[in-house]
Amino acid sequence: MPAHKRNTAFIEYLQKFGADIDFTEIQATDDLHHADGILKECMQKAETLWNTQHSFFMVNGSTGGILSGIRACTHYGDKILVARNCHKSVYNAIELFGLQPVYILPEYIESYHIYGSVSPEKTERILQENPDIKLIVITSPTYEGIISDIQHLSEIAHRFHIPLMVDEAHGSHLDLSPYFTGGAIRGGADIVVQSLHKTLPSLTQSAIIHFNSEIVCAKSLQRQLAVFQTSSPSYLLMASIDSCIELVKDTSLFQAWHENLMMFKEKTKALQNFRIFGYTDTIPKNSVFGFDYGKILISCTDTVFTGNRLADILHKQYHMDFEMSNTETLLAMTSMADTKENLFYLAECLLNIDKQDIQGNRPLYQTIVRTVPESHFIPSVALSEPYKMITLEKSIGKVSAEYIWIYPPGIPVITIGEVINEEIVQIIQTAIRQNLNLQKTISENPYEIATLDI
Ligand SMILES: Cc1ncc(COP(=O)(O)O)c(C=O)c1O
Repeated sequence: MPAHKRNTAFIEYLQKFGADIDFTEIQATDDLHHADGILKECMQKAETLWNTQHSFFMVNGSTGGILSGIRACTHYGDKILVARNCHKSVYNAIELFGLQPVYILPEYIESYHIYGSVSPEKTERILQENPDIKLIVITSPTYEGIISDIQHLSEIAHRFHIPLMVDEAHGSHLDLSPYFTGGAIRGGADIVVQSLHKTLPSLTQSAIIHFNSEIVCAKSLQRQLAVFQTSSPSYLLMASIDSCIELVKDTSLFQAWHENLMMFKEKTKALQNFRIFGYTDTIPKNSVFGFDYGKILISCTDTVFTGNRLADILHKQYHMDFEMSNTETLLAMTSMADTKENLFYLAECLLNIDKQDIQGNRPLYQTIVRTVPESHFIPSVALSEPYKMITLEKSIGKVSAEYIWIYPPGIPVITIGEVINEEIVQIIQTAIRQNLNLQKTISENPYEIATLDI
């Protein structure tokens, strides 16, 4: 294996897909799940770069790392503290491992309609009220670039003798230079999961999990990585991780990226209607600890546009595509591979649209939950209950049998086992009206919801 035998002369497409370096585990190529050869050496380079006890390469994105990390830190049925704005892989772990989630809702940033940082004070209060919590899981930076105070959160977690795991899928570029800071490894987190492919030049799915803990067992994490990942990891992906690690030792690349962003900042100062988080707007200190300037989050709230409409204009008239748009905002993700011209062009396009007559005063479209719905069953229990479809209007007070997300970013509006309330129904109705990408795990009709038949 692989059956293509790297015979690129035999089939033309193999060359295009890089089959000539597509190896499997043979003596010389080592074994990801029991590394003691070249892969071990590569991972040691990562440990030196990030200053960790262990750094393991991953080929199934942060998703595999999140499942493995949570499993390694918990026993079946444990209680864990989870930031409500976590990615769906965290919710999958909760369901799979029969965990009891206690949710913490991050601070809310009204002007951008996004979640802010996780409050250390609230975290501490929840831990005092729930001394049986075994793990804290949060996302930092968030999809939109919001960073939490990891140092303070780690210190609290360790005082309660529990680990802090940080989903840093969007932060693999942090603390590798003085230009982008606020990373979770330096902050003292026990386990940090990064998608290299999201913010550094590496192939899709390539990721890394870092371990720096006196509480968690490294062997247990390593075992779970072999449970949740393929037994045939792609050498293309692992070679990509290795090359990326070599590349990012050169801090001048981060400096150039930073300088491009500062040029963008200077140019967009002239915007009158669009606002850009941390660029043309100051950061609200009461709800945000830190921000990753690699993210360009454009607010349309003071204009006649929704973020989706702006994305549409930029796509059709200016031939640009974006990471995410929703009712209030448009998100551009930048990286060191963006050219100065790219960012200059984006600034020009925004200025062009901004100078038209777009000022507006429309109501905010409420699409994220402001209170965590009451839980009736933990997800693993709710999963085995029978369910039936019911119209949205009649669903208030019933228990949801499904997960509902607006994607991206995929933060749940409601999870399985939670009680549907008026706020949830209103968010779903807004998502339908605004044509957002509403994803549900059971019901297909947008006006229906699967509820437990109890
Ligand atoms: C915050 C966050 N965590 C985890 C993930 C999963 O990462 P991956 O796609 O590398 O599996 C994503 C993906 O979008 C994400 O946004």
